[in-house]
Amino acid sequence: MPYYRSAGTVPPKRHTQHRAPDGTLYFEELMGEEGFSSDSSLLYHRTIPSTIREYRVWELPDQGRTPNHPLVPIHLSTHALFPDGTSGIDAVTGRRVLLGNADVRLSYVLADTTSPYYRNAIGDECLYFEDGEAVVETVFGDIEAATGDYVIVPRATTHRIVPKRPSRVYAIEGNSHITPPKRYLSRFGQLLEHAPYCERDLRGPSEPRVVEGTDVEVFIKHRGNGPGGVVGTVHVLPHHPFDVVGWDGCLYPFAFNVEDFMPITGKVHQPPPVHQVFEGNNFVICNFVPRKVDYHELSIPVPYYHSNVDSDEVMFYCGGDYEARKGSGIGQGSISLHPGGHPHGPQPGAYERSIGAEYFDELAVMVDTFRPLEIGEGGRAADDGVYAYSWDRASADDRGAADR
Ligand SMILES: [Fe+2]
Repeated sequence: MPYYRSAGTVPPKRHTQHRAPDGTLYFEELMGEEGFSSDSSLLYHRTIPSTIREYRVWELPDQGRTPNHPLVPIHLSTHALFPDGTSGIDAVTGRRVLLGNADVRLSYVLADTTSPYYRNAIGDECLYFEDGEAVVETVFGDIEAATGDYVIVPRATTHRIVPKRPSRVYAIEGNSHITPPKRYLSRFGQLLEHAPYCERDLRGPSEPRVVEGTDVEVFIKHRGNGPGGVVGTVHVLPHHPFDVVGWDGCLYPFAFNVEDFMPITGKVHQPPPVHQVFEGNNFVICNFVPRKVDYHELSIPVPYYHSNVDSDEVMFYCGGDYEARKGSGIGQGSISLHPGGHPHGPQPGAYERSIGAEYFDELAVMVDTFRPLEIGEGGRAADDGVYAYSWDRASADDRGAADR
């Protein structure tokens, strides 16, 4: 995480005694990345954070994946998986895996129920709130999240998700850390002037909460020989995991709202990297936000057809006006997968129709991966089965959906 924060109480000198008013010693935990060689924070616990009373296997929901073979572009309707009114589901155990590979898993859930306490030991999570409102309670403190928010939760952060109202969450689970793009950071980690957002836009946790409790379960997702290389374990702690009186450092969860992303536009079409917001190992996260579009007198505002030969591209359509895309089946909550090896671009009609447009009212979150994506249980269930034909079908009746 780019910069230093401090919350609650910490001793003046690190690795020295920190005591409660009654003289009881707090237990210092360093939570750090890359083997003490990258960002870290120091947390001060009331109880020893290593303590486990019991443990058992957590039988995860289906994590299996199958290859995209025969190779096709696909369209997933996430809202078909979770129609409005779906209830009794939480944002951790209720996720359904859409797509994934060895670097990242993309899941979706409509949650209205409080999740268990949870730790993802595989990598950082980027939770995008398509719609809803929730508190992401973490060992560092609470983060309020609502429509349009990304919440970045560092690997192994104990947390739970408490919906205030039903929340549609697109979960991007990395097998690595998820950070702002390196090219937007100074050599010391500050976001630079040409970055489309800055530190003021990042919302850190509230003051840490100290909660009393015994026999508290923490659900841990971790690497193993299960389907997709993912397994789960439940640790039962004799104390509550939220027992931190203070912390400081540069590693902590934070939120960022997509409306705070200031789009970079140009006289002619700008390539997707200008829309990048975060990155992980072997994948990037971009967002296409409402914006003025290309202003050259002969510009074509929708994208040129492109073979991004090293990537699979996943677009999550999460806001704006999709009238211009009618015919391809893409709408609110849709996901398109455009795999490497298949050139893609606007559906017939859209290319010409975009000429003269000055503004696109659209919102989409894109994940590009450098390894092929396989299709998970949720992806199979949400596949419309016909998207591969949409460029051909559209040519017959000028449906004209504008793909990105
Ligand atoms: Fe594309």
